[in-house]
Amino acid sequence: MHFDRPRRNRKHPAIRSLVRETRLWKASLIQPLFVWEGGECLAVGSMPGIKKLSVKGLVQECGDLVQLGCLAVAIFPSVAWERKDARGSCSLDSDNILFTAVQAVKKSFPGLMVIADVALDPYTDHGHDGIVDSKGHVDNDASVEALCKLAVAEAGIGVDIVAPSDMMDGRVGAIRGALDNAGFQEVSILSYAVKYASAYYNPFRDAVGSGGNLSLLDKKSYQMDPANVREAIREALLDVQEGADMLMVKPAGPYLDIIRVVREQTLLPLAAYQTSGEYAQIHAAAQLGWLNYKQTRDEALLAIRRAGADLILTYFAREIAETSSS
Ligand code: PBG
Repeated sequence: MHFDRPRRNRKHPAIRSLVRETRLWKASLIQPLFVWEGGECLAVGSMPGIKKLSVKGLVQECGDLVQLGCLAVAIFPSVAWERKDARGSCSLDSDNILFTAVQAVKKSFPGLMVIADVALDPYTDHGHDGIVDSKGHVDNDASVEALCKLAVAEAGIGVDIVAPSDMMDGRVGAIRGALDNAGFQEVSILSYAVKYASAYYNPFRDAVGSGGNLSLLDKKSYQMDPANVREAIREALLDVQEGADMLMVKPAGPYLDIIRVVREQTLLPLAAYQTSGEYAQIHAAAQLGWLNYKQTRDEALLAIRRAGADLILTYFAREIAETSSS
């Protein structure tokens, strides 16, 4: 007579490693980076260790990441307030800081995959991802038109993967069409297919200055209701149909059930975005001495992989790459 002893598989670090089901590879981590027009690099208060980089600082940072074996970065612009307007027109200016930054990075590191958001929020004075009409509604179809132009402009300056993060209806198909018409058949689309109207984005909005009055910015008419699961499947399947190359769920940690269900219902590579708020939470608790920083960080990332994400956008990417050999 014996009873099951699952602990045998945990008795030694080597055995634990042999039977481990999920791993964090640096090849699956993507570092988000912020760039601005200034000549120096500025710390982002609510994101310890993260800076708004000058173009020179960004290129240096990308050099370090390449050395460390990172394969991709997502670059976000922090645009000077004076340039912004209600329509986000400066997104198409030839001196858009995002374009300058991407060109500089691709020139130095052509093999590093550069991802850029397609959304208007860094460029609009109200902070919405699209164009707001006279009644205060975010106008879906006018926004999609503007997003197509931005996607084509990004492709033109060398972005490898455009990432529509706006949650307008029909934008993935429209962007695919616009890219193909402009001769950018090889440019990929990573769709923020399932993006929730979440409270976890505030530190990011501090960093890019897209918050306006943060407490007033309400994206619930286009980003998803955190209460919904079936709707996530619907959004994901639509983006598959419309021609996305990869899907994303965002936020990640509080939405592991969503990552799992999208993984099970679709075939495309799946990314998850561990948001600025998730990053800030871990740092804040660690600073207070309430959580162990490294253990919590690694567990949070592993859980996102275990839920089914192939790729993770995470502000911890560089640190993990620094400490892991594969
Ligand atoms: C812009 C965008 C946001 C994030 C990524 N792209 C903010 C938002 O939708 O308001 C959030 C990233 C993060 O919190 O780390 N559309």
